[in-house]
Parts: sequence; C-alpha cells; structure tokens
Amino acid sequence: MNLELEGKVALVTGSSAGIGFEIARQLALEGCQVVLNGRSAQRLRAAQEQIADADSVLADVRDPQACQALVQSVLERHGRLDVLVCNVGSGASVPPGKETPAEWHRMLDINLHSTTQAVWAATDALVASRGNIICISSICGIEALGCPVAYAAAKAAVESYVRNSARSLGRKGVRINSIAPGNILFKGSVWERKLKEDPAAVETMLVRDVALRRLGCPQDVARLAAYLASPLGAFITGATYVVDGGQLRS
Ligand SMILES: NC(=O)c1ccc[n+]([C@@H]2O[C@H](COP(=O)([O-])OP(=O)(O)OC[C@H]3O[C@@H](n4cnc5c(N)ncnc54)[C@H](OP(=O)(O)O)[C@@H]3O)[C@@H](O)[C@H]2O)c1
Repeated sequence: MNLELEGKVALVTGSSAGIGFEIARQLALEGCQVVLNGRSAQRLRAAQEQIADADSVLADVRDPQACQALVQSVLERHGRLDVLVCNVGSGASVPPGKETPAEWHRMLDINLHSTTQAVWAATDALVASRGNIICISSICGIEALGCPVAYAAAKAAVESYVRNSARSLGRKGVRINSIAPGNILFKGSVWERKLKEDPAAVETMLVRDVALRRLGCPQDVARLAAYLASPLGAFITGATYVVDGGQLRS
C-alpha cells in the first residue's frame, strides 16, 4: 500500500530508542524526511546512523522553550512540518498509593506536558501544512491494570486531550489521534528486563491476560502510526487506537 508520505517532514519526540525510533524508521521507509529527538547526543547519533538521511535535534520536551526551539530548528532546516509524533513518556514510578506531590508533577511533566507542549509549539507549522499529530498513550490510561497510578492518570489525560482537541484543531485543518500500546518488547525495554528476571511470570501473564498470548513489538505500533500520519487516514481524528494483542476487555 502506498501511504503517500513521500517528501513529508516528520518530527518524532523521544526517538533515539524504543517505539519512537521504530516509528521514525517506518516513516523514513515510507519516504518521510524524519527528524529524531532525544536528550542524549550519543544515543541520538547512534540512532541517526541507522536511518538513511535522518536529521536529529537535541531537546528535552519537558521544557516548553526547548519545544519551541526544536520546532524552529525543524522549520529552519526543512522548511515545513507535516507530522508530529509525541512519543516521550515513561511508566517508571512508585507503587500505587506511594505517590507524592513531587512524583505527580514529575509524571505529568514526562507523560502529559511533553505532549501538550510539543503540540503547542508545532501548531502553527502544522496548520500551515494541514498536518497531523499522533500521541503515544498506553492501555494503562484506559483500564485499571495495576500500573503506577500517576502514569495511568497521565496517559488517560493524554487520551482525553486528544479527544477534546480534535475540534479546535480540525477547524484549522489539523488531525490529532493517539495510539495506546500494550506490552511492547525491544532491546533495553522493561519487558526485556522482566523476561530475564522471571520468564515464567511473563508467560503466565500472557496466557491469562493477552488474547494473542505474546508481547508486541515496536513495528506493531509503528505501522499504525504511519497509516494514521498518512493522507489515507484523512477522515480520522480525535481517536485512540489500542495495539495490545487483545489485553483490554472492555
Ligand atoms: N514500552 C512499552 O511497553 C510501552 C507500553 C505502552 C506505552 N508506552 C509508551 O510509548 C512511549 C515510548 O516508550 P518506550 O518504552 O519506547 O520508551 P523508552 O524506551 O524509554 O525510550 C524513550 C525515548 O525517549 C527519549 N526521551 C526520554 N525522555 C525525554 C525527554 N524528556 N525529551 C526528549 N526525549 C526524551 C529517550 O532518549 P533520552 O533518554 O536520550 O532522552 C528515548 O529515545 C512512551 O510514551 C510510553 O509511555 C510504552
């Protein structure tokens, strides 16, 4: 299927590793000029070497000014921005019931504000290109799965943000959607660590909780992201798509 993404400029936040890297790689395979982002120059360089013609910009997207500078760099170097993927997020937090005010702020910054600030900084450019936005949330934001509470609440907020922003952005010709992944395995991921520590527990969880009885891979998320980012998804906005192998039950 030709996704008609040739020549589009795509910025993926948090793309030196994991799901973000794979989304960037997939968009590049579809013909996009991709701009990678992360905080470590070394990791960013290593990622850039794996994607032909990829560009990269260092920025911590928890900082609104850094988001503005990031988008400005993309516009100066490539003249336009067509696709923004807000991928930065982290579930590493305290066990349920142990949240402090500082932990709430930290988790909202990394999971919610990293998204809203990137969108804020990129909106004018996306209006100019009639572009679109994809936010990476989590199935933790949809159902009570025992994940860290502040992570689950922040991801639920991302999904609500997407639903509630679709109209104001839609009036300006910009689409916004989110993808809620389940358990995704890749080198250096949480699931790689859990598999090493206790493979039997992971297997039990998969058989009990996941219809397809396997962990997902970054490509499972990246292929959907490429479709949503493309003109083929032109009538889709305000939606959250679950990619979890059938873990959610409601
Ligand atoms: N992995 C899963 O099973 C899973 C499941 C559901 C949802 N998700 C969601 O999917 C997204 C990606 O997860 P992942 O597991 O692929 O993450 P990851 O492996 O931790 O990768 C995170 C990427 O983001 C960069 N990054 C982290 N903080 C940043 C910041 N403040 N500013 C800019 N870049 C930053 C990292 O590079 P630097 O550290 O160098 O900045 C790295 O490139 C997250 O939103 C996560 O919540 C993941």
